[in-house]
Amino acid sequence: MHHASIIGTGSYVPERILTNHHLREMVDTSDKWIIERTGIRERRIASGEETNVTMGRIALERAIENSGIRCEEIEFLVVGTNTTEPVWPSASGHIANLLGLRKDLPFLDVQAGCTGFNYALSVAEMSIKAEQYRTVAVIGTDKLSAITDYQDRNTCVLFGDGAGALILRQSMNEGIIRSHLGGNAKARDLLILSKKDGTGNGYIKMEGRKVYTFAKRAMVESCFRVLDPSGTAGKNELRALFEQVTKIIPHQANARIIMGAAEELESRLELPAGEAKNKMIMTIEQYGNNSCASIPLALDLSLRTGKLRKGDLVIFVGFGAGLTYAANLVRL
Ligand code: UT7
Repeated sequence: MHHASIIGTGSYVPERILTNHHLREMVDTSDKWIIERTGIRERRIASGEETNVTMGRIALERAIENSGIRCEEIEFLVVGTNTTEPVWPSASGHIANLLGLRKDLPFLDVQAGCTGFNYALSVAEMSIKAEQYRTVAVIGTDKLSAITDYQDRNTCVLFGDGAGALILRQSMNEGIIRSHLGGNAKARDLLILSKKDGTGNGYIKMEGRKVYTFAKRAMVESCFRVLDPSGTAGKNELRALFEQVTKIIPHQANARIIMGAAEELESRLELPAGEAKNKMIMTIEQYGNNSCASIPLALDLSLRTGKLRKGDLVIFVGFGAGLTYAANLVRL
């Protein structure tokens, strides 16, 4: 069977920084509360002209450059995103057009909340493994600031904007080993868009505590399922599989959710304290939760700064509106 390997990555964040101190002037909150409860100090906010499309385009350009391929080599484009306005035509089509990709290129948006990138990567992985395409581009991009209510302190302190991209290519070497996709459609009302003024997509409304509890459990389950798809491994076997993992890139929603999931992994696998925590890659302090961008952005930054290297075994694990959750097990 052919494998699907990552041959290049790229990312983009807007220049404008929104700090906790700025937010303090907008809602009843404090730098201390936000840092202690979320781990976030600042986030990037797109300008009026910037969209999920313009940010995604730059991230993909950078991934193309990083991989050394030509635009024409891309045969399929999959974009994880939730903030296209108007909702159609799709962001992927806009990006394909702006970048001058092949005229007959197939393109697809995947809308699965903040799990959109994990789902999109799985679609791309399967299309290569099925020998449908050789070279596929995947983007995660979102402009959450466009759907954030800056009068709602329960949500506005969390979100930011950005984009990340990667190029997948058919290969004889291991790459995306497998993905696990999960969902809980019954809990869809916990995280919704609600129209305040009847225009646009509306604003994010969230039952934070309930999403928090779901997220911790879902991330642990998805990590286990991607390591042990049949669910038959005993504790020792699962621990041995986990110990081979170099790093985990979790969706950057809340530092406490990430550390809580790590503690749960340590407890369930009887690992020494800190072993799962130390594997967690964190970018949340600087970028907050930028939805579909959070994992590919962290991947690109980690590869460029040497935190991750070729050959590392990594889990990308996310959760989000839907509710959805997913993980991808990847040999870089
Ligand atoms: O990509 C997926 C999207 N969503 C998420 O991942 C979010 C998941 N949830 C969370 O991250 C957390 O639930 C939050 C960060 C949203 C909230 O943290 P929490 O520890 O669950 O706080 P809480 O909602 O239980 O609220 C505790 C208190 C409340 O006050 P009272 O009722 O105890 O007086 C809130 O009103 O904190 C208050 N509060 C705030 N205080 C200052 C809520 N937001 C703020 C704020 N500043 N920004």
